[in-house]
Formats: sequence, C-alpha cells, structure tokens
Amino acid sequence: MSVRLNVDLRQPWEVETDVLVLPISSSEPQPGYFAGVDERLGGGLEALRAVGALTGKPWSAALLPATGMGSRLVLLMGIGDASVLDAQSARRLGTAIVKRLGGLDVKRLAVHLPDGLTSGGLSQASLVELVVRGLIEGADDASTIYRDAGEGSPPRLDAITFVVESGDASHLVRRAERGRVIGEGGARTRRLAHRAANDVSPEVLADEASDLARAHGLELTVFGLEEAAEMGMGMFVAVGQGSTHPPRFIALRSKPVAETDARGRLLAMVGKGVTFDSGGISLKPPANMGEMKTDKTGACTVLNALATAVQLDPELPLLAVAPAVENMPGPHSTRPGDVVRALNGKTVEINNTDAEGRLILGDALTWAERHGATHVVDVATLTGAMSRALSRYMTGGFATDDAWWAEVAAAASRQGEPLWRMPILEDLRADMESPFADMSNIGSAEGGAIIAALFLREFVSKPWAHLDIAGTAFLSKTDAFSTKGSTGVMHATLVELALGASGSDR
Ligand code: BES
Ligand code: ZN
Ligand code: MN
Repeated sequence: MSVRLNVDLRQPWEVETDVLVLPISSSEPQPGYFAGVDERLGGGLEALRAVGALTGKPWSAALLPATGMGSRLVLLMGIGDASVLDAQSARRLGTAIVKRLGGLDVKRLAVHLPDGLTSGGLSQASLVELVVRGLIEGADDASTIYRDAGEGSPPRLDAITFVVESGDASHLVRRAERGRVIGEGGARTRRLAHRAANDVSPEVLADEASDLARAHGLELTVFGLEEAAEMGMGMFVAVGQGSTHPPRFIALRSKPVAETDARGRLLAMVGKGVTFDSGGISLKPPANMGEMKTDKTGACTVLNALATAVQLDPELPLLAVAPAVENMPGPHSTRPGDVVRALNGKTVEINNTDAEGRLILGDALTWAERHGATHVVDVATLTGAMSRALSRYMTGGFATDDAWWAEVAAAASRQGEPLWRMPILEDLRADMESPFADMSNIGSAEGGAIIAALFLREFVSKPWAHLDIAGTAFLSKTDAFSTKGSTGVMHATLVELALGASGSDR
C-alpha cells in the first residue's frame, strides 16, 4: 500500500518512470545533465530557454512529452536560486510537484536531485527526506474527505525514485523512508484536522486517539466531564459543559522501557482540541465561522506527532495531551463573568467565553506536569492576533526557557517550518488582572497573542514553549506549493523535536 522509495545513480534519461522531474534553478543556467536531456528532447529545453520559459522562477512548471528517454514525461520545475535552497524550499518542491500533477494518472515519479542543489548547505539526505515529506503531505487533499477524487486531485503515487549524481544509496533510501513516515503523519494530521465538526466531536477525537494507540502500541487515557470536575479541572469543565457533545480529556503515552530518556527527560506535547469554536455565549460573528472546525488542529497535531515519533524510535518516552471540547452557546454554557478554579488552584474570571483555548490548555498543562513531563510544548490555534501579526506563512512561538526554545527552533528549521519567537511581555500581565479572581482570561485589545501566552505561563513550571498556529494551521488562499485547508503545520517540527530531545537524532 505504501509508496516504494528508490535511489538511482544512473543518468536521468535512463530511469524508467512516468514523470521525471527536473528542478530548474534560476542561478545555475547549465547544469551538467542539461545537454544530455536536451538532446533526447530534441532541443526542447533550449527552445524553452530561448523564449524565456525556463527561468527557474519558483514553482513555475512545464510538462513535456519525453520521447527517447526512459521517462514518458518530463516536468520542469522552477526552484529559484539553487545555491540557497533551504529546508522549506525542499519541502515545497515536493508539494509543488504533486500539485502540478493534480488530476493526472501518474503512478511512478522520479525526481532528479543533482549535486548542485545542496550548495545552500542542506545535506543531500535532508533534501531527499524533505522532498518525500512534501510529496506525501501534498498528495493528501482535504477535497477528497467527503467526495470522490475529482479534477485536480493529487496523483496516487506508488513509486518515487530519486535520481542522484553521487551519494550512498542505502543511506538516502533510509532518509527517504523517514520522510515518508513523517509525511504520512503530516497527512493524517491534515485530514483529521480538516474534518467537519458534525463528523469529529470530542468523542470521535478520542476514538481516533484510540485507533492510534492500537496501531502503535500506545497507552491511552480518556476521561469526561465528571472525572475532570472531580479532579478540579474547572477551566476544562467550564468550556466543555456547554455542548451536547461531551468533552473528552485525551492523553497518549508511548511505552518505552524507561519512563524518561537518557537525559532524564519526558517531553509532553499538548494540543488544543476545540472541535468547533462558535465562541460560546461570546458568540463569534458569522463570517468564516466554518473555519472554526479546524480549532482542534493542535490536538490532531500532537496525537499524530506522538504516533509518528514512536514509529521512528519506539524507545522514546513521550506524552501527548489533547483536551477536546466543543465551544457552544446553550443553557449549560459558561457565562461571561463566571469565576472558576483551575486544576492548579488559581481562580480565573472568564470574561470572554471565546478565549476558550487557553482555559482547556491551562488545565492540560498542569495535568501534563503532574504526569511527569519535564519539558513541555503546546500547539494551538489560539489567537486571531497571531495570524494578523505573522500571516499564514509563519508560526509564532513563545518560550520561558532560552535553551528549550533553541531546541524547538532548531527542530522547526530542520523541517523547514518557519517559526518566529515572540516576546512574553511582562508589562501586559497587568492587563489580565481581575478584581475578583487571580486573573481574567482576557486582557485589553492590544497584544492578544502575548496575553494568551502570559495566561498559559500561569500553568507551567517546566521548560515550556507555546506555538500559536492560528495563522498557519489552515489556508483559505493557496500558492503553487500549497492546497486549501489544513496544513499539518508543526507536526514534523514536533517529531523532530521529540527525536532530537532524546538524543536519538540521526
Ligand atoms: N480559535 C480562536 C482563534 C483563531 C482565530 C484561530 C482565527 C484561527 C483563526 C480562539 O479561540 C479565539 O477565539 N480567540 C480570540 C481571543 C479573544 C476573545 C481574546 C481571538 O483571537 O479573537
Ligand atoms: Zn478557539
Ligand atoms: Mn475562541
């Protein structure tokens, strides 16, 4: 079922495949293979260049018939300046290829990766891994969740071959496999995150976690409203109680021999699981409210990242925590002005029921630390303010500990997922003060993403990083390298972080 991955050291025209992809750089006009390919294409490349159709402009593409070669078609794909090709571009090369091949009946794909592509500092093995990841993630399309594959649907590949000029083929195949495993996890994340709220309730999210637990030998913990209330999770209960779909507090744990890794660490990944965010009594305006079915993306990300990470290293001690609720208005909903007590004992005045993510995450962070977490990262579609600040292209992150941040940032950079550190501005803490409780769940109109981070910080004591993916989780506008809908952003970063944090990095 899963795609076959090969590495081929022959000339690009010798490889038997349906489509051979030739990356075209804007900086290197005549790579070594160019003349050989052009000869077999009857001068087609030179003809394109002569009219200015072969500039290497990023993700501009041309598909040509390829008589006289092992491949039936050639796809010329602009990649920009190859001498600065980075991890993000490597991944985009993969997604741009499958997007360009949308709607076509292509089964076997070969991608030529000449040595010149690694002059930007990316290793050949990382390049291979990231292109595979892009191909696999890009080939999963939200448009096919509730209908048959249609015009433009990504091709169903059953073989991917990397054609290289040099290198250790078996090592490259191993890294391609790593890219496949991470890509499949990313695709699972995208698909689950994008499912509709009438399909994925908190209970269904718990079922999905249960499927992952069974498939990967994980320990599953799930409890509902009564147990959460008994435990003292006043914030989780306050959001969860308003819906006819009962909340589920979900946790997955890997089952390594030791509870912590060689460095005494247990990484907890905590994800916001709001299966629909109507705003609650502080109801959202109707425009684009449907996008709030993706407000569970953080939960989908951490559950799948744990499953992916244990496939790559079954001995990793890991905890994924996904508080799942539906934020709805109704007779049982929390009212603005209600005061609740969090699991860690702090009291909170809920002045806006639409600031619900921080409430469920706060209790989840406390729970994660009580269950042995030594390092914590959370992922959440938390604030519209973050999406306005950094756009759909960059995730904003916050951290209390510089060394931990450095690990998170390095993981994101290796997986080509742009991440920008935002400040936790102490001065803004005053805006969150409440006359009746230890704090309010909102501040004033400014610095909304920072306020949310300040709020979460009240519930952690261990090294902690908070990734606000409100801007990056979901795309309503696309580029040549992206498809509409959920992106799966930060799944790969978490996997990389988990593997790196245990010292079990490649
Ligand atoms: N889920 C939203 C944040 C969001 C907005 C995600 C847009 C993706 C796209 C979150 O629960 C929310 O409603 N946040 C409020 C907080 C405010 C009430 C303090 C916001 O950002 O407006
Ligand atoms: Zn929300
Ligand atoms: Mn909200």
